[in-house]
Amino acid sequence: MTSILMHAEIDGERLSTGELANFFNLLLGAGNETTRNAISHGVRLLTLHPRQRAIWFGDFETHAASAVEEIVRYEIPITHMCRVLTEDVVLHGVPLAAGQKVALWYTSANRDGRVFDRPDEFDVTRPLQPQQTGFGGGGPHFCRGAGLARREIAVMFAEIRRRLPDLHVTAEPVRVLSMFTQHDWIDRHGCGRQLTSYDD
Ligand code: HEM
Repeated sequence: MTSILMHAEIDGERLSTGELANFFNLLLGAGNETTRNAISHGVRLLTLHPRQRAIWFGDFETHAASAVEEIVRYEIPITHMCRVLTEDVVLHGVPLAAGQKVALWYTSANRDGRVFDRPDEFDVTRPLQPQQTGFGGGGPHFCRGAGLARREIAVMFAEIRRRLPDLHVTAEPVRVLSMFTQHDWIDRHGCGRQLTSYDD
């Protein structure tokens, strides 16, 4: 993908080195940190919920799509993004003004009891719901890699089932104090400290 971007030319124009570097950085973080954490979360969830493991691994293909979606819903790898409002809006009675910054808490939306039945339960058979916001809430910034990510996670668990069906975590993970997910992202913006493991 990076090669395609390097050689891409539209109306005689190419991406600058800086633009390429930024996009490469985005892809690296967006495409790596997320799936890696989702898979770790998934292994932990299947350890904590052996019945859910039995259901999924008992009929893998039938439940693969909903199980992957449920891992991302329940233990979302990206907790939020920031947006700047382009117009005034009233949200649930709260007036918000154009130009204001807002945080989109995907993690909160994914546990919304008005949308999800038993939101705090991990259920690999949960019907797919378009309101699942793990990959964003729709619109132009919806995750570019959602299809790839879903496939990567499903393939990884298919292999775990085939080779190491009893794989499980043996201790509580050491969680990083991160509001977002990526330690270097936080450090570069000067609002974090050196972090060593995955997000909370
Ligand atoms: C479980 C895995 C993943 C999760 C949970 C995830 C989550 C997200 C979320 C929440 C957003 C913001 C969406 C929005 O604000 O509407 C996003 C954007 C993005 N994701 Fe992912 N992502 C995952 C995997 C990937 C992968 C594998 C790639 C690429 C190889 C990728 C590339 C991107 C890019 C490029 C954007 C920015 C899109 C834009 O702003 O136009 N993501 N992702």
